[in-house]
Amino acid sequence: MKILVTDRKGEEHQVDATAGEPLMFALRAQDLVDATCSGSCSCATCHLYIDAEWVGKLAPASEDEEELIEFLQFGSENSRLSCQLTVSDDMDGMKVTVAPEEGF
Ligand code: FES
Repeated sequence: MKILVTDRKGEEHQVDATAGEPLMFALRAQDLVDATCSGSCSCATCHLYIDAEWVGKLAPASEDEEELIEFLQFGSENSRLSCQLTVSDDMDGMKVTVAPEEGF
């Protein structure tokens, strides 16, 4: 399925994602996120903003994910960590934006 991703320069990409895998894998394969901790919910370099139309359709964030997002300078109500989002078929066409790089 396709995820529509706006990168930090404002350029749009159609990214192929595989159901059952963390969304981060598809983004990292295109060099759209660094994912420095490789998905252990500790670096936040996989931080995304989810389009308003989609944010309510996703499974809620875990306590660990919420705590890390609260700590971020650029955290927002529609923030999610892409390593914590498992791709599912109903995400086809979802729009996301890569969040700005944190200063740590
Ligand atoms: S890859 Fe590090 S928090 Fe997601």
